[in-house]
Amino acid sequence: MALILGLESSCDETAAALVTSTRDILAHKLAGQEAAHRPFGGVVPEIAARAHVEMLAPLVEAALAEAEVDLSEVDAIAATAGPGLIGGVMVGLVTAKALALASGKPLIAVNHLEGHALSPRLADPDLAFPYLLLLVSGGHCQLLFVRGVGNYARLATTIDDAAGEAFDKTAKLLGLGFPGGPAVERAAKSGDSDMVPLPRPLVGSPEPHFSFAGLKSAVMRARDENRWRPADIAASFQQAVIDCLIDRSRRAIARAEGATAFVVAGGVAANQSVRAALAELAEANGLRFVAPPQWLCTDNAAMIAWAGAERFAAGLTDPLDTPARARWPLDPDAEHARGAGVKA
Ligand SMILES: Nc1ncnc2c1ncn2[C@@H]1O[C@H](COP(=O)(O)OP(=O)(O)OP(=O)(O)O)[C@@H](O)[C@H]1O
Ligand SMILES: [Mg+2]
Repeated sequence: MALILGLESSCDETAAALVTSTRDILAHKLAGQEAAHRPFGGVVPEIAARAHVEMLAPLVEAALAEAEVDLSEVDAIAATAGPGLIGGVMVGLVTAKALALASGKPLIAVNHLEGHALSPRLADPDLAFPYLLLLVSGGHCQLLFVRGVGNYARLATTIDDAAGEAFDKTAKLLGLGFPGGPAVERAAKSGDSDMVPLPRPLVGSPEPHFSFAGLKSAVMRARDENRWRPADIAASFQQAVIDCLIDRSRRAIARAEGATAFVVAGGVAANQSVRAALAELAEANGLRFVAPPQWLCTDNAAMIAWAGAERFAAGLTDPLDTPARARWPLDPDAEHARGAGVKA
């Protein structure tokens, strides 16, 4: 059994966790920064980086104390090394390097997206490779064929905005508050999803790519018409996103031969309506559906520690001069997806 300390700091959550290779989460500590960013209606990178500097060391101490372990008992130290807001990523990675150097333990530089991608295996011991993953978060919307640790084939991606980003922008447009995803979900509960006509970008197109920029513009036009209740726009928007996710995932399922399950991860996977629709799609296609618990969908350090545990078991550790990376695709061979209006 290996014990891994994981650190997360790529966006606006500072987190530290201790997780074993046998899936015991001994401690997970998280400090959100919502109050600091709320006045700006979005994440301000410099404010985020400063908050990570303040919060990370106390969270590491609190995690070790809660788990009643000493740093010397940890087998490796994992931290998000990208992709994300570079200031925050550097704070977490440098902290991990310092802890690794001081304790003589190996460093594991984790791709934040691999943290999301492997998080369902922390939650579900029966989830075996390969699986089809819908990764829907604030910065990404991708369909990936997950063959194993460090082995990802990207089947599709968004050509413009991520789904979570569309939720956040819709919340801002409708004045529903920050963070946007949960606010839209709450508002949608009291709205009628058939009320406001909104587009389903790329639905029916042969490649399973996504597009959400046009949907966001349509939400803005609907708001400016002044004839719809915000709750009805929110419900109609959420349904449009779901319809896009379902149509695109259906196409990817047809290409994911050998997949043991259809899996969803990332912040948008915390949405109950999204989860229910995806579960139905999986069932209709004879695939097992796996979604991590809600707290494991949004950013956290348990998923980083777990990705660290999976990499450690595979003998993958990293040198102390490993750089922080703002961009870091999971599938380095995937072609750049063309944006709207760009000719093939
Ligand atoms: N209940 C919800 N319904 C819809 N969206 C949600 C919900 N909860 C969170 N989200 C969205 O999930 C996103 C945050 O997810 P996550 O923390 O995984 O993203 P990120 O770390 O910012 O981006 P990435 O992982 O791509 O770098 C936000 O865009 C947020 O609006
Ligand atoms: Mg994330």
